[in-house]
Amino acid sequence: MNEVIGIIGSALWFILPAYVANATPVVLGGGAPIDGGKLFTDGRPIFGAGKTIRGFVAGLVAGSIVGVLQGVVVGQLCTYAMLGLLLALGALIGDLLGSFIKRRLDIQRGGAAPVLDQLGFVVFAMIFASPVMLPGWEVILIILLITPPIHIATNFVGYRLGFKSRPY
Ligand code: CTP
Ligand code: MG
Repeated sequence: MNEVIGIIGSALWFILPAYVANATPVVLGGGAPIDGGKLFTDGRPIFGAGKTIRGFVAGLVAGSIVGVLQGVVVGQLCTYAMLGLLLALGALIGDLLGSFIKRRLDIQRGGAAPVLDQLGFVVFAMIFASPVMLPGWEVILIILLITPPIHIATNFVGYRLGFKSRPY
């Protein structure tokens, strides 16, 4: 039991910059879309109006700050600063790719794409982080298991607080 709690703690600690990078745009995003409002060859938006430059930059900065703070806490500033930046960048690019796939499948901006919405960003965050550090397979497994319910719960809180128009 204590071992499981330890693994969950390690999982949350490792993936925290990705969570922060993913959540920050909901609060600080808005304005000009990354795709400039352009359409893809299929006549649908490239990413859609939900992916904004301000949201991307805010998420990248916030996730990176978390990495720096983690580095200060454990006394490994360089490694964790790099890790924070890569986890945040991966999360945001994974999120963009998710929106790109959703638009190709004709799912409107804000429409639900189960699994892709909840796990895409975290998988990409880990791929981006892998050159610097990857946790053990147990921790990776726990990250994949706990992220969907955490994502759904935080989205619901964001909806109740008025940051999101939909509860998912
Ligand atoms: N957001 C942003 N910039 C980003 C990512 C998100 O401004 N790069 C903001 C947008 O206001 C967006 C909200 O965060 O509506 C929630 O993000 P998300 O659920 O990822 O976007 P959706 O609106 O659901 O769009 P999509 O269907 O493309 O996922
Ligand atoms: Mg959404």
